[in-house]
Parts: sequence; structure tokens; C-alpha cells
Amino acid sequence: MQSSLGSSGRILVIGGTGMMGQHLVKASLAAGHPTAVLVRPASSSAAADPSKLKLLEAIKASGATVIGGDIYDHESLVAAFKQVDVVISAVGHHGPHDLEDGQLRIVAAIKEAGNVRRFVPSEYGCDVEQAARSAAVLEPARSILLAKVRVRDAVRAAGIPHTFICSYWAHGFVLPRLGDPHVDGPPATKATVFGDDATRAIFVHEADMAALTVRAVDDPRALDKILYVRPAANTCSLAHLVHLWGDKTGRALDKYYMPEEELVARIRDSPLPLNFQLAMVHATVVAGVCDQTVDAEAGGVEATDLYQDVNFVTVDDFLDGLKEGITVN
Ligand SMILES: NC(=O)c1ccc[n+]([C@@H]2O[C@H](COP(=O)([O-])OP(=O)(O)OC[C@H]3O[C@@H](n4cnc5c(N)ncnc54)[C@H](OP(=O)(O)O)[C@@H]3O)[C@@H](O)[C@H]2O)c1
Repeated sequence: MQSSLGSSGRILVIGGTGMMGQHLVKASLAAGHPTAVLVRPASSSAAADPSKLKLLEAIKASGATVIGGDIYDHESLVAAFKQVDVVISAVGHHGPHDLEDGQLRIVAAIKEAGNVRRFVPSEYGCDVEQAARSAAVLEPARSILLAKVRVRDAVRAAGIPHTFICSYWAHGFVLPRLGDPHVDGPPATKATVFGDDATRAIFVHEADMAALTVRAVDDPRALDKILYVRPAANTCSLAHLVHLWGDKTGRALDKYYMPEEELVARIRDSPLPLNFQLAMVHATVVAGVCDQTVDAEAGGVEATDLYQDVNFVTVDDFLDGLKEGITVN
């Protein structure tokens, strides 16, 4: 079995300026790893978006190294990978083809570099292999899940040491909207409720996802495994989020329970990424595929067993912070 790298293990995050990637960079630095971020030349040029440049400055000031590169520039990837021990991808996507193509390019470059001791492909959601088995999952979620399954297949076939991370619904992405992808923040008077109180989902804060990913890449017990992050206190229905928010704010929200037919019609009529987000809501509340058990046969391990010392940010904590206008980081 592979030995652990220790805190001197060098970690490269691809997508380190993204929503999930920023947390991975912070977690890697916090664990003491020499940390690098692969950044596209256009994203760090003087012509780049000023907010992106500011973020890059903050990333550098926090101690990470910036390496220029692009997943569509094979040589740049191979050169970057040769400088590190671990590659964590948190690249976003614009649909299944883009997602699969990008991740497979990373796989090809890892094969050529030949030195990478652990790879984490860009997932951070439900267990895609379990979810994709359900015929009830609608497009475009189905194609996106299947693209992530094919990336897993390619990683395994290439014999690349890996860990697949299942960290379910990200707190910051879903809790401020109380599960409704149509809105940006918590409702003041009216809330749309998706599903019933019985069908549950799992919610994990991005900082916890990131801290556990960084622990797992340095842990032989998570080598070639699927790491399921399923904190018991963070398993509830989307409907519960609306009830909890109403209780916390003391406001009686006017609730609209969206019927399944309307949800299906909205998925059909919405553009990406809204249709994908709504299809994942459907996968959660109708197909019921987002409250998963550990698939031990497929190599699943439970993060809450491996890392019993972690105090997860709970849904309750996050909504308390939201009520006070505090972002729980
Ligand atoms: N479970 C959940 O609730 C949840 C929610 C959201 C996302 N996710 C998953 O998390 C993963 C990351 O998504 P995200 O939303 O965090 O992504 P994101 O915010 O869209 O970030 C995209 C990142 O990818 C980088 N990137 C894009 N194209 C690149 C290229 N050609 N070469 C190098 N870097 C490139 C971007 O770099 P630049 O700075 O150069 O633009 C940016 O840092 C995805 O797998 C997604 O499905 C899960």
C-alpha cells in the first residue's frame, strides 16, 4: 500500500479560483502542504477580470504558488504535474462534453507525467455511479453524471492512484436559496418547496469537503477509494430547509409546493446551468438518489468513520449564520 506523503507532499489544485477550488487551496495550505494553483494565462493577464486578479493576489498572499497552464494545453499540464505529488481538479463545466473532455485531458497528462501519487477528479457531488443507475434521473443531470462516471472509468483503467470525493450538496451553493435554484438568496415572504419531508439529501460545507479531501489524498486508507462524506446532522429534506428557515426567522413563509409536472417542465424549458440544477433537485426529491449509502463493493469508505474528530458545519449552523448575515467559512 502507498505510504502517506506527509505535509511536505506538494498539492496542485486545478480550478483553484473557482467556487469549490478556493476552499481546496485554503485547506491544502492549512494542512501545511506546499500548494500550487494552475491558472490560465488569460486569467492572470492585465486584461483579466479585476475581481479574478484580486483573488489571485489573495491566493498568492496566502502562500500558494501560481503555475501558468490550461487543461487544453497538454504540455503545460505535464510540466505542472511534474512539479507536484497530488493533483486535485475542481474545474467547473458547461455541460457533459466539456466536463468529460477536460477531465480526460488531465488523465492523459497525469499518465504522461508518471509521477502523480494521487488524483482527485472534479466531482464533489453525489456518488455518480449510484445515481446514474436510476432511470428516474432526468437530462441534463443524467448526461453530466454519466460523464463523471466515464472519467472514473478512465482514471481506474489508467491505473492512476485516486480518491473520488462524494460531498453531496454544497452548503454555500444550496442553503442560501433553501434548495431553490431559481433564486439567489433566502426568501423574505414566499418560498418554493421541492418534495416532501421524507426524501432526504446530504449537505456538506465546502470547507469540510476541502479539509477532508486534503486529508484523504494523504491517507492510504482512501487510496483508490470513493470517499463518502455523510455527516448525520446534515441529512434532511429540501422541504426541511424551508421549515427550518421559517422557524429561525420567526416569519411564516408563504409556501408553494411545486408539483413534479411543473418541475419537469421547468427542467425542459430552462437553459444550462439552471436546467442541470433543477434536474439535480428532481434527482433529490423525486428520484431520491441523493441520500446514498456507502457502496463498499465499489471501494466506498465513510469519511465520518475515518475522520471522527471532524466537527462538521451543520445545516443549522449555516442557516444561523445566514440569518445573522454571517457567511460560515
Ligand atoms: N455539490 C454541489 O453542490 C456542487 C456545486 C457546484 C459545483 N460542484 C462541482 O464542483 C466542481 C467545481 O465546480 P465549481 O462550480 O466550483 O467551478 P467554477 O466555480 O466554475 O470554477 C471553475 C474553475 O475552473 C478553472 N478552469 C476552467 N477552465 C479551465 C481550463 N481550461 N484550464 C484550467 N482551469 C480552468 C477556472 O479557472 P479561471 O480562473 O481561469 O477561470 C476556475 O478556477 C464541478 O465538478 C462541479 O460539478 C458541486
